[in-house]
Amino acid sequence: MSTNEERLRRLDQMRAEALLGGGAVRIERQHAWGKLTARERLDLLLDPGSFVELDAFVTHRATEFGLAENHVLGDGVVTGHGTIAGRLVFVFSQDFTVFGGSLSEAYAEKICKIMDLAMKVGAPVIGLNDSGGARIQEGVASLGGYAEIFLRNVLASGVVPQISVVMGPCAGGAVYSPAMTDFTIMVEHSSYMFVTGPNVVKTVTHEEVDAEYLGGALTHTTKSGVAHLAARDEADALDAVRRILAHLPQNNLSEPPRVEPRDPTERMDPALDRIVPDDPRLPYDMHEVLASVIDDGDFLEIQPGWAQNILIGFARLGGRSVGIVAQQPAILAGALDIDASIKAARFVRTCDCFNVPVVTFVDVPGFMPGVGQEHGGIIKQGAKLLYAYCEATVPKITVITRKAYGGAYDVMSSKHIRGDMNFAWPTAEIAVMGAEGAVSIIFKDAIAAADDPTAEHRRLVAAYEAEFANPYVAAARGYVDDVIKPSETRPRLIRALEMLADKRDTNPQKKHGNIPL
Ligand code: HXC
Repeated sequence: MSTNEERLRRLDQMRAEALLGGGAVRIERQHAWGKLTARERLDLLLDPGSFVELDAFVTHRATEFGLAENHVLGDGVVTGHGTIAGRLVFVFSQDFTVFGGSLSEAYAEKICKIMDLAMKVGAPVIGLNDSGGARIQEGVASLGGYAEIFLRNVLASGVVPQISVVMGPCAGGAVYSPAMTDFTIMVEHSSYMFVTGPNVVKTVTHEEVDAEYLGGALTHTTKSGVAHLAARDEADALDAVRRILAHLPQNNLSEPPRVEPRDPTERMDPALDRIVPDDPRLPYDMHEVLASVIDDGDFLEIQPGWAQNILIGFARLGGRSVGIVAQQPAILAGALDIDASIKAARFVRTCDCFNVPVVTFVDVPGFMPGVGQEHGGIIKQGAKLLYAYCEATVPKITVITRKAYGGAYDVMSSKHIRGDMNFAWPTAEIAVMGAEGAVSIIFKDAIAAADDPTAEHRRLVAAYEAEFANPYVAAARGYVDDVIKPSETRPRLIRALEMLADKRDTNPQKKHGNIPL
């Protein structure tokens, strides 16, 4: 046999060995848990045949705890690049079959290499996480490796989109990197995120808790807000990555992809003219408004299970991607509480980073009152949303469907904080507060002195409503650019987006602002 043939055979053997990761037994165990392997996941995520692997022959350099004799080609993470819908992406996929997917110094270097490449060429980074965190045997070398990744997460933030999928029991450093990316998707019943697992919790705080309740997909998409989406299974989670990416540009210097709209841009929906109830205390479902207005009713809702009094997500209008922020009057009357403010603030900033216009639907009675909210810092948390809207320079279009009261009027992309196009429906009520509250304060003495205080209160409320509970006071000042029929909303939004397509706006030069964290 020629030397060249031997060399080729060796390469084939090493490639085959690298494909096996932690070996057949551990792969079987992974499958038995209902989990795919690191490579099977990449096959599902990327366009067929597009994956190009790097560093398949990297191994760790540790010698302690018997590691000198325990090397696995690739060292527990598969890295490289491929395409999604024909667009370049960089990927890393952690392999739980190798040392529990735990992160070594060499493993971190592999991830850093693809992150550096992604920054050089301006392409998204997608991380598939399935890891026990820092590789305990490597000690500080592993901690250093994590810190190198965290630094790159931060430097890449707002430059290239970063999406994390959590697909196993992730602890320690394995959760802090996802936390710094733009979107985190979890798989129901097989993925967990916690700083420390149930055993450590029991030792330190004496709380008895299982992994699911401590850090499962339901917990993080309904209670903590740490994750953005919970997927039924791994295939569903990877599909969600593809759907999110379809609304994002390759980097901060490019635009989101535009598609040819099938839904007619001039389509109007007469049902919208009747959707707001005559009684302002009755709710309606903002989902119905969105479904009627956006292309094909296709709303990719983000964080649908957390802070449901505000809706956020991606949609298209006339084929252009937009980020939607909308109050949900059917939940907590659409009031802005701590979680809703944080949820929407982060989303507005995500859209602004990546040149996605923001369309805001407003029906808000104000910030949520109460001891719990005040002690939880609603002032500071609400300020996050105000800050996010003020600093955003992407096209901002606002539709006030009903209530826009008090500070919440200012916050929700009002004209005064650089809203580009502000529309109101005829049902809009733009005022410092609702009629009941306003009359009780400014006419307190007059009502008390009246022969029939109840009748006087009712009369004053009706007079206040007639005067102020409409959009025309704001329209007279140019605070709303037009009062439109609800049925006209779709064509008007599409025309506004077209008009704003080449908008350029800047903020003063500074190192960075100081958002109230
Ligand atoms: C080395 C690890 C490991 C780790 C798991 N393994 N975690 N090896 N370092 N961190 C190995 C196990 O020894 C085992 O090897 C295999 O992976 C599978 O682990 P199991 O425990 O059998 O699996 P499971 O029961 O599913 O539990 C998974 C787990 C648990 C919840 C992740 O392994 C766990 O709690 N690991 C430790 C988590 C942790 O505390 N990590 C350090 C965090 S500190 P064999 O050979 O038997 O297959 C950190 C610092 C960064 O990350 C801080 C940044 C801010």
